[in-house]
Amino acid sequence: MKNRHDVSRVVALVPAAGQGVRLGESMPKAFVPVGGSPMLTLAIDGLIASGVVDHIVIMTPAELVGEAQGLLAGHLGSACPVPVGVVPGGTERTDSVRAGIAAAPQASHFLVHDAARALTPPTLIARVVAELRAGHSAVVPGLPVTDTIKSVDAQGDVTGTPDRAGLRAIQTPQGFEADLLRRAYAAGLQATDDAALVEAFGARVRVIPGEPMAFKITTPLDLHLARTLLAERDEPGQALSTGAMR
Ligand code: C5P
Repeated sequence: MKNRHDVSRVVALVPAAGQGVRLGESMPKAFVPVGGSPMLTLAIDGLIASGVVDHIVIMTPAELVGEAQGLLAGHLGSACPVPVGVVPGGTERTDSVRAGIAAAPQASHFLVHDAARALTPPTLIARVVAELRAGHSAVVPGLPVTDTIKSVDAQGDVTGTPDRAGLRAIQTPQGFEADLLRRAYAAGLQATDDAALVEAFGARVRVIPGEPMAFKITTPLDLHLARTLLAERDEPGQALSTGAMR
């Protein structure tokens, strides 16, 4: 860990280019409405509300860049305190993040945050940046796993049962020193999260407590949960609990 350092140009990269096949909706996942707003705008609202993001770059399917720009212009208006850009994503999530990195040469730090984690509390985003400010070069939120996890082979036979106590389900936003993430991506590997690329590069990745509300909306059940939670929040007298697990 280094001394506290300059976290002056935090660029949030928002992968939103997935087709969302597992969700079973008729449109790419980031554009699916939850409580009347597309997941994408909910995720952007959270990043802005955190107060720790200087610039946002969103990666959408190439054919939806214009639609996303129009959606955000209408939603955020001209008084938005944070510049927001949209660029075409790629075939895999890693390709999308790579496109975002290339669009933000000014970044001192990156936060990579899935549009599909639309209900992420702004306080979690601020906690990740606080850890970067404290000198950690790679920071990810994670929750203890509640299921027993097994590895299986191609035939479906169990090959191992890792000790659950040492496992974490990793969320976003994931925060990185910009040059570290740039170097990790330059290696050209694929992974399901950004920290894995940084780990492969030999860097130390710090895990901080995640938030149940930062769950990824992937399946129809997740979408039902997200819509129900927002409907409850919007009822008079109701507050949306973030129920942080430590
Ligand atoms: O597929 P998965 O659920 O892991 O996707 C996580 C996030 O990555 C989603 O917000 C999705 O839109 C985004 N993604 C992307 N480009 C892809 C695939 C996924 O930006 N090619």
